[in-house]
Amino acid sequence: MPPTLETATASWNLVEPEFSLDHFPEPNLFESIMREARYAKDNAYAPYSEFAVGAALILGGRIYRGANVENASYGATMCAERTALFNGISDGERKLSLIAVTTSAEAPSPLESRSPCGLCRQVMSEFATANALVLLDNGDVNGRLTGDIIPFKTLFPFQFRLEKE
Ligand code: THU
Repeated sequence: MPPTLETATASWNLVEPEFSLDHFPEPNLFESIMREARYAKDNAYAPYSEFAVGAALILGGRIYRGANVENASYGATMCAERTALFNGISDGERKLSLIAVTTSAEAPSPLESRSPCGLCRQVMSEFATANALVLLDNGDVNGRLTGDIIPFKTLFPFQFRLEKE
């Protein structure tokens, strides 16, 4: 059995069991932030792909939400994760500690159909703290929320950084 974090109302699969969750002493926080992401997904504008995504994150201790916003000129589409992040960054916050993502992928589904895209990972890496975590929704089972917890570093190692003198 893979390691899990169990609460009364949620079950989380720990993708990197060795990783310490000490920076997150309140496990119910994971569920609340995922519920914020689900709420954000309701406002997704995705008439072209019909794939709605919601994200909620903690940036500088505050919660920000975002949904994907598509466009008839497909390349102009903005992902939910970057919408949420840019929301907080433009508020002056800089430190990303936790991000929850939910999609309209039918649950349960493989990690690949629920994970942030490469562009979002690079943008997140600009602000992610060393212990930042990514939560991926995997639907409800018997009335309990299920999902995966992945350290950001595991999801996106060796990120590009521009070293300045
Ligand atoms: N999408 C996101 O919002 N986040 C991701 O990380 C992956 C893709 C959106 C973009 C587009 O509106 C739809 O999902 C299908 O690609």
